[in-house]
Amino acid sequence: MSRLLLATNDSSWEDRVRESFEHTLNGELKSWGPADLAAGNSAMLRAIEDHGARVVAIGPGLDSEAALHAAAALDRVSPELCVLLVAEPTPELYRMALRVGVRDIVDPAAELADVRAAFDAAIDTAARRQVRSSASVKTETRRTIAVVSPKGGAGKTAISSNLAVGLATAAPGETVIIDLDVQFGDVGNALRLAPEHTIADAVRAGDALDATTLKAFLTGHPSGVYVLCAPESPADADLIGTDDVSRILELLQGLFRFVIVDTGAGLDEHTLAAMEYASDIVLVAGTDVASARAVRKEVDAFDLLGLTTQRRHLVLNRADARVGLSADDIEGTVGLAISVSIPSSRAVPLSMNQGIPLLEGAQKSPVSRSLGELVNRLAGEAPINSDGPAASRLRRWKETR
Ligand SMILES: Nc1ncnc2c1ncn2[C@@H]1O[C@H](COP(=O)(O)OP(=O)(O)OP(=O)(O)O)[C@@H](O)[C@H]1O
Ligand SMILES: [Mg+2]
Repeated sequence: MSRLLLATNDSSWEDRVRESFEHTLNGELKSWGPADLAAGNSAMLRAIEDHGARVVAIGPGLDSEAALHAAAALDRVSPELCVLLVAEPTPELYRMALRVGVRDIVDPAAELADVRAAFDAAIDTAARRQVRSSASVKTETRRTIAVVSPKGGAGKTAISSNLAVGLATAAPGETVIIDLDVQFGDVGNALRLAPEHTIADAVRAGDALDATTLKAFLTGHPSGVYVLCAPESPADADLIGTDDVSRILELLQGLFRFVIVDTGAGLDEHTLAAMEYASDIVLVAGTDVASARAVRKEVDAFDLLGLTTQRRHLVLNRADARVGLSADDIEGTVGLAISVSIPSSRAVPLSMNQGIPLLEGAQKSPVSRSLGELVNRLAGEAPINSDGPAASRLRRWKETR
């Protein structure tokens, strides 16, 4: 039996629901009376988690805007829940409710048999959603992917935001990106988000931070990716310690299959803390000598620090730059085979300025095709150690040393 949560202050409604189930609901039903739903999203999420609710009925007696806001928040953070709205149904309310993922609207004055039928249908939907989501979590890969480069402006944010959108398209609701460029992070801009909360809120929650609270600080993106944005003000960056990064990543790993980490340039303490949790590192290099050498130094530093278990993927960005090293030379300098080469394209800055990631649209241009290749590689659809031309080039390089 799926557990039910009634988010309302109306005790006569609770009585009617119990009656519709012929008083067979005991511990399965819980009433949670929010003083102010709009401000209480994280408290409601906690109540849902504590109770193990699968069906949430919001209302009656609530301002419809607050009720819809709460329904939208639930749909974002727990798509496997089934949400009912309890209010007098109107065509306008139906239209808005369906848009935020509400399954049905129940008239609080409806016949008991109709109340029961609406709850039975919701319980059924919730059970099916539950089976689907637990099956996908058990059988599929989980990855935490840190996108790094020693130099600024290499293309980390362009790559990580597209990677997140691409993975979310394959696994909606199961991908999160965290912006660990804590001073000047711009993942929010690259995805045209106006976040209500940022990582600073997660840190301010202190010991009270748990999975439920953290979910409430994420911002949803239409592609299905969730985002933990960098603080609004660079001054807030000082709040964020390495222990906070560890705690947040631990929680995100429990909640999502794919955790993408965008980082600041170089190996700062936040990046290093994240590295401990990474299964994959995407190293972004340019074609110039300085960039290739710096990436080599970064790889050496990982070796020295014992960060050797993560799969390493070398991504060559602006790969077609006319002046620059050849692919062979870059692989030779870095000591890794190039996984994916991304050409230079005006579409990249254009898409970042507009906040519309390239992988949100049709993937026809060479640059979106290579970003798509990177997504497939990390989604586990392609073997990690590809034996393509790049790998054989690397073998040749090793043999000549
Ligand atoms: N393949 C590309 N072709 C053309 N422009 C690109 C390409 N990749 C990145 N850019 C542009 O280069 C600039 C820097 O990219 P991005 O912000 O992704 O780098 P970054 O490594 O995140 O930088 P920072 O270290 O400052 O965070 C942006 O204006 C971006 O649009
Ligand atoms: Mg960046």
